[in-house]
Amino acid sequence: MLRRLHLDQPASFAFTPDNLAWANAQITKYPEGRQASAIIPLLWRAQEQEGWLTRPAIESVADMLGLAFMRALEVASFYFMFQLKPVGSVAHIQVCGTTSCMICGAEDLVAVCQDKIAKNPHDVSADGKFSWEEVECLGSCSNAPMAQIGKDYYEDLTSAKMADLIDALARGEVPLPGPQNGRYAAEPLSGLTTLTDYAADKNPHNASVQLARDIGDTIKRIDGTEVPLLAPWQMSGPAGPTSGNPLPAPDQPAAKPAAKAPTAKAAATDAPAAESKPRTMSAPRKAGADDFKRISGVGPKLETRLNEMGFWHYDQIAKWSDEEVAWVDSRLKFKGRIRRDDWIAQAAAFAGEN
Ligand code: FES
Repeated sequence: MLRRLHLDQPASFAFTPDNLAWANAQITKYPEGRQASAIIPLLWRAQEQEGWLTRPAIESVADMLGLAFMRALEVASFYFMFQLKPVGSVAHIQVCGTTSCMICGAEDLVAVCQDKIAKNPHDVSADGKFSWEEVECLGSCSNAPMAQIGKDYYEDLTSAKMADLIDALARGEVPLPGPQNGRYAAEPLSGLTTLTDYAADKNPHNASVQLARDIGDTIKRIDGTEVPLLAPWQMSGPAGPTSGNPLPAPDQPAAKPAAKAPTAKAAATDAPAAESKPRTMSAPRKAGADDFKRISGVGPKLETRLNEMGFWHYDQIAKWSDEEVAWVDSRLKFKGRIRRDDWIAQAAAFAGEN
């Protein structure tokens, strides 16, 4: 399927303060120089905030991670979890159309979506509440046909069930996910033939359904106000994840990260590098500013930031000493991008062309 940016884009994007704190914490999960690995969680959070992934959001995430916009767009346009067009305000329904589901009636489910939502996939319904698309196998083949709605799976569907689900969601209800034909999980329709001793009366739902029910977020988008568990990997001691400490209940505040006693090696590594301010210029030379976007890792926003700091020309960057790199680095959103992308060598090469 062709996945392109929507033609009608908003002018800008900014994470909410809660989401920005969460995103910055995610970035700390990765080793120095590998912050680009946070691309998927950050794009996902941006989508949760806006409902779909806008071009300004992709650009903003690329800038946060020191990535060229094209690199971020490659990720956003590759994965079907990212919606590049506006979706329904209540739910976007992803009907599995792969072999097992197709054999078991996926086309009937699609027909219901076409009838109740919109004829074409990715079009939003007239009331703005729903949209739908056909996706590849979602890994629930033994419960075919199925669809993902919000964050949960609705399985063992029929056209009547799919129609009921859409009607219930339109009324503001959140139907219980999981098998819709009375099955507990993926056992034979005729009943269990082995492992028959599970206590259905104590566990009326399988683990996935129970968790979905407990969390209650099937179609609710994350807005940054959930459990304030920003960076559990930064915790230590009894509150840390390595001790097997469970996540706090949704209505309880997370334990504050315990302060770590730095080791001698960490202290040496964490010691701030000596900084020295490079020579800056209040304006570019007469011939005009150089195009910093040619430097891999520098996008439009980073170029503007560099200009604001007084850098306009490749030869300025090419002359930065280690201390001057440290000075500039500490004024960007995260450290390490200058060395990681070797701006000095790139700038020297471009300066040589002038
Ligand atoms: S074929 Fe539909 S979930 Fe695998």
